[in-house]
Amino acid sequence: MEFNQINTESLLNLIKSRRTCYQFLDKEIYPLDDTKLNNCLQAAIWAPNHKLTQPWQFYVVGEKLKNRLAEVYADNRASKKSQTDTECYAGFYQKALEKFMAIPQVILVGQVLAQDSTVRQEDYAACACAIQNFQLMAWQQKIGVQWSTGPIINDPRTYQNLSIEPSQIQLIGALYLGNIEENCQLKNQSKRKTVEEVTFYLD
Ligand SMILES: Cc1cc2nc3c(=O)[nH]c(=O)nc-3n(C[C@H](O)[C@H](O)[C@H](O)COP(=O)(O)O)c2cc1C
Repeated sequence: MEFNQINTESLLNLIKSRRTCYQFLDKEIYPLDDTKLNNCLQAAIWAPNHKLTQPWQFYVVGEKLKNRLAEVYADNRASKKSQTDTECYAGFYQKALEKFMAIPQVILVGQVLAQDSTVRQEDYAACACAIQNFQLMAWQQKIGVQWSTGPIINDPRTYQNLSIEPSQIQLIGALYLGNIEENCQLKNQSKRKTVEEVTFYLD
């Protein structure tokens, strides 16, 4: 493994420059490259995980499933903002449906649920590491990602559509991704506290 060839400054820059993305280039004009997507998944599965439980599952959503999930997404969004069966609801629903369908690629991340609560907690941490690995690999390839914990991951209809059992697999995140503009990171400035503010050197 020639990992030492990665330059410290480049790695830090990659980590610091990554931003959550909400806007993607049109997938018809700039389709996602399968090899690049596979690189992201490869990075994800090499995340640390205690006792090698490898608790993650990635559901790469195809067009038919996306249509069904779009309905779940749209219903959640519209019913949060309005009464169902009203004109208002229909308007919000349609807008949300289009928004979801415009996302170039949706990937749902599931955590295989261990019986033991400590293992479950550690497995969630491992899944989060996997998602960050995914995001960084995506960013390096000019693919933007939004990591979402929005209502669709808790909706029973999503589980039905994926044919998974909530008692066995918990959906812990939805990844919305697509190719992005070169300067996309400038539009979403994200701040962090300084290292000094959050680090305590104790003796
Ligand atoms: C566990 C977790 C859940 C998140 N859920 C959402 C979400 O539901 N919607 C969203 O827009 N961003 C979500 N994010 C992304 C954060 O909002 C984002 O990382 C934060 O605003 C910092 O911005 P940055 O990623 O550009 O640095 C989530 C991030 C994490 C780690």
